[in-house]
Amino acid sequence: MKLAVVQTNPIFGDIQKNIDNAIKLMSNTPADFYVLPELFNTGYNFSSRNELENLAEPIEGQTFFVLQAFARQRQCYIAYGFAESDGIVFFNSAALVGPEGLIGLYRKVHLFYREKLFFKKGNLGFPVFNTVFGKVGIMICFDWYFPEAMRTLTIKGAQLVAHPSNLVLPYCPDAMITRCLENKVFAATADRVGSEENADIKLSFIGKSEIVSPKGEILCRLDETSEGVGLAEIDLSVALNKKLNEYNELFEDRDQRSYF
Ligand code: ACM
Repeated sequence: MKLAVVQTNPIFGDIQKNIDNAIKLMSNTPADFYVLPELFNTGYNFSSRNELENLAEPIEGQTFFVLQAFARQRQCYIAYGFAESDGIVFFNSAALVGPEGLIGLYRKVHLFYREKLFFKKGNLGFPVFNTVFGKVGIMICFDWYFPEAMRTLTIKGAQLVAHPSNLVLPYCPDAMITRCLENKVFAATADRVGSEENADIKLSFIGKSEIVSPKGEILCRLDETSEGVGLAEIDLSVALNKKLNEYNELFEDRDQRSYF
């Protein structure tokens, strides 16, 4: 399969422009599976609940319908981050849409920094979804800092972890090499570039979207400042094999009794 990470520079609050831009980037680069950044349609740096209320959407909202149409037309999958409203509270969510429609939803569990002021912590655990290429799990940005997130997804069978992100700290791109090695899984981190200043809080994002293999190889990595699409041709069945050699199988060798 051809896997793509789409790196954008969202304009805060301009959902239509941000969707159009993502569609343009995807249209110009054919792939089977695209990963878009966290909150790719709204931007990231919310300063009030009111602002979030005006920009958040239900799961099947404006953003979903545009991406679903693209997925149907191109026979592809898209994992994308968006601000979700369930009518009462807000989640920092990511959905997976494919030719068949909505496939799955994840709500970010580990909220970063001021996200804690506006979003509710995810309440769906770490679900894994079936696609024609294999099983896919989703985690969002700061979830990478908690090894349990990716471990849970891979123990549940994920062969690919789609990782919509808005990275602020510098560590994730290199840390994902270890996350992929320790789980023998593919990961696709789609980050954003640029910066956002809102109510005197300025955040800058580090780009470096990447695709990493179960052997910890960086199959593609984008730069720190440009929009663009990173591509890798991958075979998800590789991630089913957790054997390191004839004596070691990564998941069978875990020894729960020794850890706590
Ligand atoms: C982050 O979780 N957006 C840093």
